[in-house]
Amino acid sequence: MSQTLKAVRGTRDLLPPETALWNRIEATARSVFARYNFGEIRTPVFEDTSLFARGVGEETDIVSKEMYTWEDRARAQSEKTQTLTLRPENTAGVVRAYIEHGLGESGQLQKLYYIGPQFRRERPQKGRYRQFSQIGAEVIGPPSAGSESPLRDAEVLEMLATLLDELGITGWTLHLNSVGSAADRARYNDTLRAALAPVVGQMCVDCQRRAETNPLRVLDCKVPADQPIIDTLPVIADSLDEASKAHFAAVTAALDAASVPYTRNHRLVRGLDYYTRTTFEFTHGGLGAQNALLGGGRYDGLSEMIGGPKAPGIGFAMGEDRLVLTLLAQETALAQKADAFIAPLGEEMNAAALNLARELRHQGLWVELGEGSFRLKKSFEAADKTARQIVILGEDELKSGILTVKNFSTGIQTKVPRAELAVFLSN
Ligand code: HAM
Repeated sequence: MSQTLKAVRGTRDLLPPETALWNRIEATARSVFARYNFGEIRTPVFEDTSLFARGVGEETDIVSKEMYTWEDRARAQSEKTQTLTLRPENTAGVVRAYIEHGLGESGQLQKLYYIGPQFRRERPQKGRYRQFSQIGAEVIGPPSAGSESPLRDAEVLEMLATLLDELGITGWTLHLNSVGSAADRARYNDTLRAALAPVVGQMCVDCQRRAETNPLRVLDCKVPADQPIIDTLPVIADSLDEASKAHFAAVTAALDAASVPYTRNHRLVRGLDYYTRTTFEFTHGGLGAQNALLGGGRYDGLSEMIGGPKAPGIGFAMGEDRLVLTLLAQETALAQKADAFIAPLGEEMNAAALNLARELRHQGLWVELGEGSFRLKKSFEAADKTARQIVILGEDELKSGILTVKNFSTGIQTKVPRAELAVFLSN
């Protein structure tokens, strides 16, 4: 017997009824993005590997350990063999598209959102998959369009608070920090290197390497034994220049004015190298170890890092899988049922039942169609599982135009004229 095939480790099938929740999350996100004047961008799922090496950073975990990369062999003389990568995140791809299509030439801010799969070869666990979905958005443009303004940071954060509220996710915490300018970070890296020198020998091998190559990444370390050492290291806030400090103060002042709560988290440096100034994460206690619902920040130098014009930007990506987990744990997210189940009495009523279902569906109702060969008891059982109400359609009902409706939550049975049925069922 041949072996049964299964979804690859770290990937999964999404099935109903959970997919209804995914769709609801995406519809809510699209509606919020539209109100904030964002338009959708769809970039390819794979890109030239060097986009991520240059954009996200060679020394990050994502690029050094987690990418799905392959040699794509040339098929014709005119092609060359390329090294390609399944996107581990979408910001680099969006900025590549911004450059490629000259989107900055309009002189306007580009406000773009995306929804789609990303790929990272991480160790799978609850809330962490090798294929996962992000809902993200980026605000990017030439400095003359106001892309460097702290107001953009505050507006993005305020939009996120609104989106989480509309999704019905309560109890989140916004962690906010500034990683400063490239010059601030260079200064901080020197400070860190000096502070690490006497203690790094007691730390994990990754930290020993990072202390040499990119000391900032030591702050991302999750090894428990290293945490007491990391807690004693100098904080980046003390290495920020006046302009970075003023930017951060303006972001927090605008958040205060909009009553968006946040906490300053000095260790939040984020796992990608393109960040400048504002960085943030929204966490949720219900998620366990993988508690980041979303992350993001400003990336004023990313466009230039990948060969484009000066195009400061800020954005975020939400882990859609984690939004689903949070909602599933939090409420009766999947308790929604169809408005009505049509139960034909006998196979000869099937065609008439299809017609009635069509009539109600055209009026916007969510309808499940039963099967006339079922005994009434079986129809009731099926209806109770899928719908709020059952409508019985037998020969008498068809002739008289008066239908019997039973509401499962009240137990009340009502006779309803066919012309009034849609209104009755939708209440
Ligand atoms: P990130 O922090 O790497 O940032 O990912 C953003 C979010 O994606 C995380 O907070 C998490 O919810 C989700 N996520 C990441 N990896 C996984 C995984 N393996 N399984 C499930 N969910 C995951 C970025 O990707 C940046 N591009 C965000 C950004 C946009 N910064 C500026 N603009």
